[in-house]
Amino acid sequence: MKLESQPKPWGDTAVIGKRLPRVDAYERVSGAAEYTSDIVLPGMLHTAILRCPYPHALVKKIATGAAAKMPGVRAILTDSDAEARIPWYFHSGSKKFLSRLFDPHCRYEGEEVAAVAADTPQQAWDAVRAIAVEYDELPFVLDMDEALGANAPKIHQTGNRAFDVQKIERGDVARGFAEADVTIETAYRTACEIHTPLEVHGSVAKWEGNRLTVWDSTQGVFEIQAGLAHALKLPLSDVRVICHYMGGGFGSKIALNKHTVIAALFARGTGRPVKACISREETFLAVGNRPAHVFTLKAGAKKDGTIAAFEMHGKATTGAYPDWTVGGFQVADLYRCANVRVEEEQIFTNAGPARAFRAPGFPQCAWALEQSMDALAEKLGMDPVEFRLKNVPTVSQAQGNKPYTSTGLSRCLAEGAEAFGWKQARARSKNGGPILRGVGVAAGLWGYSGGPPSTAIVKLFADGSANLNMGASDLGTGTKTVMAMVVAEELGVPLEKIQIEYADTGTTQYATASGGSKTVVADSPAVRAAALDVKSKLLDMASEQLNVPAADLELKGGIVVSIRSTETKVAVADLRALAKQGVVVGVGTRGPNPADKIVRPFAAHFAEVEVNARTGEVRVVRMLAAQDSGRVMNRLTYESQVFGGMTMGIGFGLLERRVLDANTGKMTNANWHDYKIPTALDVPASLECLPIDPHDTECNTTGTKGLGEPATIPTAAAIANAFYHATGVRVTETPIRPAQVLALLAARKKV
Ligand code: MOS
Repeated sequence: MKLESQPKPWGDTAVIGKRLPRVDAYERVSGAAEYTSDIVLPGMLHTAILRCPYPHALVKKIATGAAAKMPGVRAILTDSDAEARIPWYFHSGSKKFLSRLFDPHCRYEGEEVAAVAADTPQQAWDAVRAIAVEYDELPFVLDMDEALGANAPKIHQTGNRAFDVQKIERGDVARGFAEADVTIETAYRTACEIHTPLEVHGSVAKWEGNRLTVWDSTQGVFEIQAGLAHALKLPLSDVRVICHYMGGGFGSKIALNKHTVIAALFARGTGRPVKACISREETFLAVGNRPAHVFTLKAGAKKDGTIAAFEMHGKATTGAYPDWTVGGFQVADLYRCANVRVEEEQIFTNAGPARAFRAPGFPQCAWALEQSMDALAEKLGMDPVEFRLKNVPTVSQAQGNKPYTSTGLSRCLAEGAEAFGWKQARARSKNGGPILRGVGVAAGLWGYSGGPPSTAIVKLFADGSANLNMGASDLGTGTKTVMAMVVAEELGVPLEKIQIEYADTGTTQYATASGGSKTVVADSPAVRAAALDVKSKLLDMASEQLNVPAADLELKGGIVVSIRSTETKVAVADLRALAKQGVVVGVGTRGPNPADKIVRPFAAHFAEVEVNARTGEVRVVRMLAAQDSGRVMNRLTYESQVFGGMTMGIGFGLLERRVLDANTGKMTNANWHDYKIPTALDVPASLECLPIDPHDTECNTTGTKGLGEPATIPTAAAIANAFYHATGVRVTETPIRPAQVLALLAARKKV
C-alpha cells in the first residue's frame, strides 16, 4: 500500500464497532497472563532501593560495609561507583536540568540514594536498612509561592522556575472585558494526585554478552530502548525491550525510570538476571503525579451569551523535576472567544516530580474553565448546556483558525443532555431534608491527535490464520483486541485465528509510546494498511488462478469472489500460489494527518450528585459521558475507557490528594489506606456512555480520534457544577471533601 494511495474510509463494518471481549480476557482474569513482576528467570536477583527520607538533603557519606556482609547480598550501588555515575537529564523548554542516577543532592523525599541486589527481595530490603547514610538536611520549600520568594531554598542551580512562562494570546482582552455585561473572576485550586496504576512499576534485566534484554512495564518499548541505550552508552541494536501484559500506565510509564537502569547495572555486574519491582509505597513517592495547580480565571460574557474575553493565569508545581504540566489550551480553544490571554508557569518544590497523568493539565484546567462557564451561565440567566452550545467553534482558534476534521461537541452537549434527561433533572425540586440534589454539566477537548510514524506487518498463512506484528504496548485498554479487529475486518480472518506479536523492540515494528490517547489513532491506520497489502496480494494470486482481473475480485469471508459472477471464486485456503509460498506478508505504514485541518476529540459529561448537608458527604448518583472520539472500534473496550475515565474523574474531584507535612516535608498518606482512590462504592451504579460518532473521514483512515484521556477531562468539573446546583455554593478546591463541604455550607447559612 503506497502512501499516496491511502485506503478509502470504512463505510459499514462487519467486525469494527462490535461489542467484543478482549482477545486476552481469559489470560487476564485467570491469572495466566504474565506481567513483568511475574517473570522469574534462573538465578535471578532482586533489588531494593534506598530512598532519601528527607524532602531536601545532601548525601555526605554512605557506609555500605555492614549491608554488603549480610546474607544473600550480591551487589550494592551508590554514587561512588563509577558505573552508576550516570547523568540523568530533565529537559523543559530551552532549559536542561542535570541530575544523576544517585544524585547526592536529593530534592524530594523518595529520591534514589543507593540500591542493593540480593538473592531474595527480603534480603535486599534488610540490606537497604543496614546502609548507613549521613545526610545534611537542607531547608525545603513545599509551596509554589514561597518557592519563588527571594530567600527560598534553590532546588536547582538556575532557581525554582521550571519553564519559561507559556503564553497564548489573541484579540484585545481589555476591550473584551469592557464590552462584557457580566464578568467573574475566581481562583481554582486542584490538589496533587498520585500515579497509582494497579500494576506497580517494574523491570527485569538480563545480559547475553554485550546484549541487554529488559522486560519492563512500559507504555513505550522503543522509548525505554532509547533511554537505556543512552544511559548505558550502547547501540540501540544491543538493547531489546519487551512489554507484555500491563496493568495501566496513565503517563507514568512512558519515560525511562531509574529502577530499570539499576536492574541493568546490577545484571551486568553480577552476571545474573535482575528484577527491580518497586513497592506500592515507593509508587506514592517516586513515580510521578498530576501536579497541583492554581488557575485564576477571569471570564466575561455579553447578555446574548457571547463570550467576550478569557484571561487566565495558571501556576503548577512540577515538584523537584520538570515535566509538561500546562493545561490552559482549552481556555483558548474549547469555546468561541475573540479575546484570550493565557499565561502559565511551572515552579519547583521539594516534592515528588510531576509527570504526564491522563490528559496532563486538562482536567485541572477544566475544573476552572467549566466552573467558570457554569457561573457565567447563571449570571446570564441561561441554561449551562444552552450557553455552551451557543459558543461551540468549528475551527481551532488556538491553531491558526484551522477547521477541525470533525467536531461532535454540539452533539455531545445536545444529545448528552437529552439522554441524561437534563431539563427534567435540572427542574426537579432539590428542597426538603438534609440531602441536597443537583445536576451539572462540563465539556472538554483533548489537545493531541497522534500521527506517524507507525509501521505494522500482517502475515497470512496458508491455512488462513494470521499474525499481526506491531510495536505498541497494550496498557490494558484492549489495544491488541482493537488491532486484531482491524485485521479481521479487512481479511475476514476470525479473531481467534489472529496471533499478535507486540511491544518488543527485538521483533516488532517501530511504534511511538502508547500515550496521549493516540495508540489506536496512530497505529490502527498502519495495521489497516498492512491488512490491505495482504488483501491486494491475495487478489493478485486469485486473479492469476481464476484468470480474472484483480480489480474485478473481492475478498469475502475467506473466499475470493468475482464481482461479476458469484460462480467465479476460490477460497483463500485453495490458492495455489499461497500454498507454495506459505505466507503472504503485508506491510503497512501510517500516512500523515491532514495539513490544513486539526484533529480533536471532544466530550461532555453530565453528573447528578447528592450532598448530605449534615455530614458533608458527596455522592455521585449517576453520570453520563457523551464522547466524540471518532469511530467506535469496539463498543465494549470503548465503554471500559469511558467508565475508567469517569472513575478517575471521581477520584480527582472527590477523593485524591497528596498531603505533605509542613514540618517535615514528608508525605503523610503514602499508602492506599490513607490516600483514597475511588472504589466500587464511590462509583454510581448508573454510568452511561454515549458515543457520538461524527463519521470523520478526514482525520485518518480508520476515523478514530482518541478516547482514553478525553474520557476523564470534564468529569470532576461536572461534579462540581452539580454540587453548586445542589447547594448554591461554589467549591473551588479539589478534592471536594466532607470537612470542606461542611465549612462551605456553614458559611452559606451565615450570609
Ligand atoms: Mo498519557 S498521560 O500520554 O499516558
